[in-house]
Order: sequence, then structure tokens, then C-alpha cells
Amino acid sequence: MIKHKILSAYEEIAEKYNELIDHKPHNAYYDRPNTLELIPEVKGKFILDAACGPGKYAEILISEGATVKGFDISEKMVMLARERNNNEKDFFVHDLSLPLEMFEDRSFDTVICALALHYIEDWNFTIQEFCRVLKPDGSLVISIEHPFFEYNYFHSEKYFEIEHVNCIWNGFGKPVEINSFRRPLSECITPLTDNGFYIDKLVEPKPTKEFEKLDPKHFKELNEFPAFMCIRAIKK
Ligand SMILES: C[S@@+](CC[C@H](N)C(=O)[O-])C[C@H]1O[C@@H](n2cnc3c(N)ncnc32)[C@H](O)[C@@H]1O
Repeated sequence: MIKHKILSAYEEIAEKYNELIDHKPHNAYYDRPNTLELIPEVKGKFILDAACGPGKYAEILISEGATVKGFDISEKMVMLARERNNNEKDFFVHDLSLPLEMFEDRSFDTVICALALHYIEDWNFTIQEFCRVLKPDGSLVISIEHPFFEYNYFHSEKYFEIEHVNCIWNGFGKPVEINSFRRPLSECITPLTDNGFYIDKLVEPKPTKEFEKLDPKHFKELNEFPAFMCIRAIKK
């Protein structure tokens, strides 16, 4: 089963991922600065970090004065998020595609879901749940792999379909197979606009200067063509 493969891959790389996450160029100097920029206010706000990984986003948001709850499908990632944030109770194991039954309606000012939605095939239910737990006018901030980048990267010939794809990641100590779902641009936007949100801002990010020092080749490529896309959607 694809979900099981995704979970095993993240369990396998969790510790290395955590070790590298502070300065890994694609995360630290490409995804995070551009995604964090979309969170309207942090101080005093309640934020849900969905698919939190080892809790790096949570660490930053907590340091800026937010109260953060986070979950991830990987138990190891959840343990690392708890350690990183010195917090046992607010990080727990949960699957993005299941109901967020532990949260009441209108609990959060912001839901953030960074680099994780491509692990689920059908976004509709997940987005409905994000909408339910957000306060009125609350914001959903997501980062995803750019649909045009993925179309090229996976040599797709079926742009309009949602396709199961996989590749090998070599950046986490040992090669690991990563399975995910590639989708067209419309399938990144319609699940948001059909399930209670309007799109407030869409960013095709550029890497920061720090990225250039660590990885000049990808810095050049990312300035020519985006690999990620960041979206802020507001609850209608
Ligand atoms: C690329 S990491 C991103 C982690 C974190 N959001 C960040 O940006 O640092 C993707 C995360 O999604 C988690 N994940 C994958 N499928 C999931 C699912 N169905 N439900 C919850 N988490 C999932 C993985 O375990 C992994 O921690």
C-alpha cells in the first residue's frame, strides 16, 4: 500500500531529516522563508502544524509567540518534534487523510501544511477538516511541489491526471524510495476553492542568498524554474 511505503520511508530517514532540517537548502532557504512569509500573524495565535515532521516549523512559530499543536503520520517524526520543542503533549501521531476529531470547530487561527499534501491522493476531505478547525477568516498556508516541476521531473505524459509517482532520495544518508501523488495545477487549487477557501496569495518562491553559498547549482536552477509553490488560502 502506498501510504505504508510513505510511512516506512519517513520512519527510515526521520533522524537524518531532523539532523539536516535546520540548514538543508531546499527546506531552510527555499521552502520555509517563503511559506512562513505567508502566515499573517504569529504572536498570540493558535496554529496547527499538519504533517509537522521533526517540528522545525513549530519551533520557529513557538519562538515567535504562537501556541502550536502538531501531528505527523510518523511516530519517529513526532518523537523528534516533541524533543525539539521540549513538549510531550502537543505533538501526536495522526494521518492527514483522517478526521481531526480531537479538535473542535474554529480552534485555530492558522493551519500550516508544509511539503506534505502530495502524500495524499484526494485532498478534499483533508481540506474540509482544515476549514472546520479554522476560525472564521483563518488562514490555511501550504507549500507543495510545483505541479509544472513535477510534470517534468516525473516525465509525465498525463498532465490532467492525479498519478502515483516515485523517486529515490539520496540526501538523507541512504537511498530511500519516496512515493507521492503528482497532480495538475487545477487539482491544487480546486480542492481549496471547493471546500470553503478563497486563494489570497500564491507564491512561486525564489531561494535566498544563503542557498547560493551551500548549493550554487540548485540555486541557479531554482532561479530559472520553480520546484515548490506556496499558497495562502483564507476561510470564506
Ligand atoms: C517533507 S516532510 C515535511 C515536514 C514538515 N512539514 C517540514 O516542512 O519540515 C513530509 C512529512 O509528511 C509526513 N506525512 C506523510 N504522509 C502523511 C500523512 N498521510 N499524514 C500525516 N503526515 C504525513 C511525513 O511523515 C513527513 O514528516
